[in-house]
Amino acid sequence: MSRAPKIMRTVPALRRSLQPWRRHEKIALVPTMGALHRGHIALVRQARRRAQRVVVSIFVNPTQFAPTEDFGSYPRRFADDLAVLAAETVDLVWAPSAEVMYPQGFATRIAPEGAATAGLEDKFRPHFFGGVATVVAKLFTQVQPDFAMFGEKDYQQLRVVTQMARDLDLPVKIIGVPTVREIDGMAMSSRNVYLSESERQIAPTLYRTLKASAADIKGGETLESVLAAGRAKTELAGFAVDYFEARHALTLRPVTTRKDGPIRLLVAARLGKTRLIDNIAV
Ligand code: PAJ
Repeated sequence: MSRAPKIMRTVPALRRSLQPWRRHEKIALVPTMGALHRGHIALVRQARRRAQRVVVSIFVNPTQFAPTEDFGSYPRRFADDLAVLAAETVDLVWAPSAEVMYPQGFATRIAPEGAATAGLEDKFRPHFFGGVATVVAKLFTQVQPDFAMFGEKDYQQLRVVTQMARDLDLPVKIIGVPTVREIDGMAMSSRNVYLSESERQIAPTLYRTLKASAADIKGGETLESVLAAGRAKTELAGFAVDYFEARHALTLRPVTTRKDGPIRLLVAARLGKTRLIDNIAV
């Protein structure tokens, strides 16, 4: 059954709507930038399992984009998103404007460290995690959810937000949700619409290579040789590789052997103008 969610656009209106729920019900928040796909929906469904009330935020956050990045062209499909969220019986959509989120005179920024300075996404997008941490902290303060869902697709982001919630004693439980993929293995992403037809054919190599690399590591090959082969295969497929790395799954610190802890393989690579990221547990 489809039921239109309430749409809130100012903080006082949001607070008023949440107030009565807060007394007897749990609230789960799914932060998004819209252009919703099955990956986002998986988060919404996990939220439904945990809480009686589900809030989805839709806000294309300008502070996490560099001037050279795609803020202007980022897909915006609010009406379609609302229809999808109505079908999922989401209770409330929090859709502030940039002026509501960052009123004139706004001058505070969270500077995450640890996983946020691991030398992965942060190395190529230095402004990114400061922007993400600041907006996510604001979303948590605005909505005050009991749970917040984040996708493993953006694995470093998930670790950064988890660390921030712990460090700042935020009373929210962060839940990581496994990556939703297309049939051919490509991780779903709002940015996949940028891929040309021929790039779309190549894109699944990223996940295939991650899987083969994880299997080789489990099979006893050294990390160094597996990573070199993984990088080479990805480049041969037509990608420009930003990084193809093995890290400690929780701290994202470098690892040299399997014994250094639970390992996560993480990749970022560019296909034409589109930058894709993916990761997998070993
Ligand atoms: P966005 O890219 O819209 O993603 C919103 C959430 O959906 C993130 O937690 C992301 O990891 C998750 N997600 C995206 N694709 C997924 C997939 N294929 N499978 C599972 N989960 C997936 O990430 C952001 O927005 C922003 O940085 C945000 C956290 C909203 C802060 O602005």
